[in-house]
Amino acid sequence: MLVSAKEMLQKAKAGHYAVGQFNINNLEWTKAALLAAEECKSPIILGVSEGAGKYMTGYKTVVGMVNGMLEEMKPTVPVALHLDHGSYEGCMKCIEAGFSSIMFDGSHYPIEENIAKTKELVSICAEKGMSLEAEVGSIGGEEDGVIGAGEVADPKECKAIADLGVTMLAAGIGNIHGKYPENWAGLSFETLDAIQALTGDMPLVLHGGTGIPEDMIKKAINLGVAKINVNTECQLSFAAATREYVEAGKDLQGKGFDPRKLLMPGQEAIKATVIEKMKLFGSAGKA
Ligand code: 13P
Repeated sequence: MLVSAKEMLQKAKAGHYAVGQFNINNLEWTKAALLAAEECKSPIILGVSEGAGKYMTGYKTVVGMVNGMLEEMKPTVPVALHLDHGSYEGCMKCIEAGFSSIMFDGSHYPIEENIAKTKELVSICAEKGMSLEAEVGSIGGEEDGVIGAGEVADPKECKAIADLGVTMLAAGIGNIHGKYPENWAGLSFETLDAIQALTGDMPLVLHGGTGIPEDMIKKAINLGVAKINVNTECQLSFAAATREYVEAGKDLQGKGFDPRKLLMPGQEAIKATVIEKMKLFGSAGKA
């Protein structure tokens, strides 16, 4: 059964490790992520962007697929199904479809409007036993059409949103979706420190997990990050493994064109990436 992300993140914050959110795109992605979590004995959050939800024909399909896999694969680790960077309407749809967690990204609204909308969702999620992620300060770069300027969050605004009773809080600290540019300034640990000082036990979320050097990941966890989102890195692993298979001409040998064969190296590559991240984030062995 799907669970809210609340308990796993509170444990992570208290235990000084982070739970990974891995974005899914299809059946292979979901299966790879669940197999990795079970193998590592790690809690996991499956992330679904609005674009990925649309690609999979809608949120109900996603819920049906994930619930079916939980029933058939019987993982023993906690699994949450989470909307990534949801609009207000997207959040409502996912609540109705049966997600166990949502992110409302109100970072592009003036702070008063972000607060008002987040507040409404806090009470709905509390009623349904769902977890809610809010965001202050936009994450730079582009993800599935959501474009962020990459602002650094104001710690006081973070406190105002945290006090509404959200489960976890994403704050822009110089992180970017997708690959990091050569001249990237790095994460603003000063900001993260100030946010954690004001928000206390609140699990903080680090978006843009792809390409952040290991020492920065570890430092961020030490400063209160309890959830780290990874998307692009699984896409790169999948693409590289699939390219290798095709370039080696394996799709032309025997029944190598069979989709279950053709997509297998990519699936294995996603699984390996997820396992590597779970070990780095310290969530392996925690479930
Ligand atoms: P990356 O694609 O950079 O890993 O970011 C993932 C993310 O933050 C999802 O919201």
